[in-house]
Amino acid sequence: MNKEKVLVIDFGGQYNQLVARRVRECNVYCEIYSYKTPLEKIKEMNPKGIILTGGPSSCYEEGAATCSPDLFNLGVPVLGLCYGAQLMSHVLGGKVERAANREYGKTEIDVDTASELFKNVPAHTTCWMSHFDYISKLAPGFKSVAHTSSTPVAAMENVERNLYGIQFHPEVLHTPEGSKMLYNFVRNICGCAGDWRMDTFVEDSIKRIREKVGDGKVLLALSGGVDSSVAAGLLSRAIGKQLTCVFVDHGLLRKNEGDEVEAVFGKGGQFDLNFIRVNAQERYYAKLAGVTEPERKRKIIGEEFIRVFEEEAKKIGAVDFLAQGTIYPDVVESGLGGESAVIKSHHNVGGLPDFVDFKEIIEPLRDLFKDEVRKAGLQLGIPERLVFRQPFPGPGLGIRIIGDITAEKVKMVQEADAIYREEVAKAAEEWKKANLSDRFGESKEGLSVDEIFSREREFNPDWMPDQYFAALTNVRSVGVMGDERTYDYAVALRAVRTVDFMTAEAANLPFEVLQTVMSRIINEVRGINRVFYDLTSKPPGTIEME
Ligand code: XMP
Repeated sequence: MNKEKVLVIDFGGQYNQLVARRVRECNVYCEIYSYKTPLEKIKEMNPKGIILTGGPSSCYEEGAATCSPDLFNLGVPVLGLCYGAQLMSHVLGGKVERAANREYGKTEIDVDTASELFKNVPAHTTCWMSHFDYISKLAPGFKSVAHTSSTPVAAMENVERNLYGIQFHPEVLHTPEGSKMLYNFVRNICGCAGDWRMDTFVEDSIKRIREKVGDGKVLLALSGGVDSSVAAGLLSRAIGKQLTCVFVDHGLLRKNEGDEVEAVFGKGGQFDLNFIRVNAQERYYAKLAGVTEPERKRKIIGEEFIRVFEEEAKKIGAVDFLAQGTIYPDVVESGLGGESAVIKSHHNVGGLPDFVDFKEIIEPLRDLFKDEVRKAGLQLGIPERLVFRQPFPGPGLGIRIIGDITAEKVKMVQEADAIYREEVAKAAEEWKKANLSDRFGESKEGLSVDEIFSREREFNPDWMPDQYFAALTNVRSVGVMGDERTYDYAVALRAVRTVDFMTAEAANLPFEVLQTVMSRIINEVRGINRVFYDLTSKPPGTIEME
């Protein structure tokens, strides 16, 4: 397993996870490590290739992030990207200087198609630049293989030593041929076979889980979200009834969500595991009654979750393993992998391990990016509607009801949200029918997981939000319905386009869709007489309302 590995050495750039994802999309396994990783450790990992990422420093400055010159003598192909390329030049005897002007944004570029790096790339194309410094003199043995109007060395190579550098960012979508360049590096130059695939991942994981768990018992908190669902599917395929999943329905789930999760994982579902659904709605509503402060609400929901889970765990008794749906970005972001992003420390449902009586943690998705988790889910036969689910916050509708929470309000927001999701999905299907007439309606039978996946992602209109939901405001206003005065709640519709959920823009949903949603909500959901569309971007807003 993972014999073929490319290392992404992180110098603190903002796109570093993206570099790793793009490499994985070439079916090559890779991992992110800090530039501080000792050379000995890098050697031990026996990589097929090394990619040096971008970063915020200037390589000629004192104290700048750097690497050992011996990194380039391992006999392993190295590709430097942006800062990585400059650093390669600097360390190997070239010159890097500050340019008069920063080169930023989409840039026309001429590439030397004789270079292995640019195989199958048009000689004239576009790339995404973001740099102040530039390579003013090549290191000995290197030649320039791409240039723009202001950058003489937009890419360079030393074929004898298998060293390559690219000044721009091939990993971002604004470099349309970028994926091809990374493919050329990892598959052709490094010679990786491209055997990192989700079917083999699933088979290998099942084997490894069986070896690790033996005849032990495993406990998993299943939220119904993508990560824990895929973890449950994988574990159940590996160890069946040795797995117990506890699913806490806190009464703040989307419409029918609890039943949907139960249908897949419960009795008679497609997985053979012990499934415990705890219907804790009443408990939650009682605890939350009259509470309006957002942080307080979040806290109560989190604490109550732990309490319910603890009670169930006690009934089960000691378990050998506690399973968690941790995924690779959680690992990187908590500072365990790369350099760039100690953005947030990772908490899986608020510190579960403290009280559950178990010996070891098991994290079967620890090496996967979100996209790969979804693919593994498809591979395991988890229904598409669960696999392609939007992110849903742990506190659920609790933070989508502004002010105090009541069962009636939960019902209102559930109904409004279900209508909204139904109409957006319908409009997207209609758009596909009209715009993708050549492909639409083709059977998915016989398609690989990769093909189903790219279809799901790419065959969507521009306005398709990455996350969208209804939230209940605490505004009540006067309306008129069938000659009667009403004094009811207003619902807010949220729809955002985002790549990383750290920043977001309001999605440009077609006005007709919004109107249909408005009219259906007002007609069908009792207690709501007004609909707002939230235009706020993040920042300054957040995606959720509370
Ligand atoms: P915000 O509101 O911070 O949301 O812009 C960013 C993304 O995170 C999700 N979110 C949460 N997810 N527990 C979670 O698991 C939470 O407490 C939580 N709060 C927000 C939100 O849905 C969005 O995708």
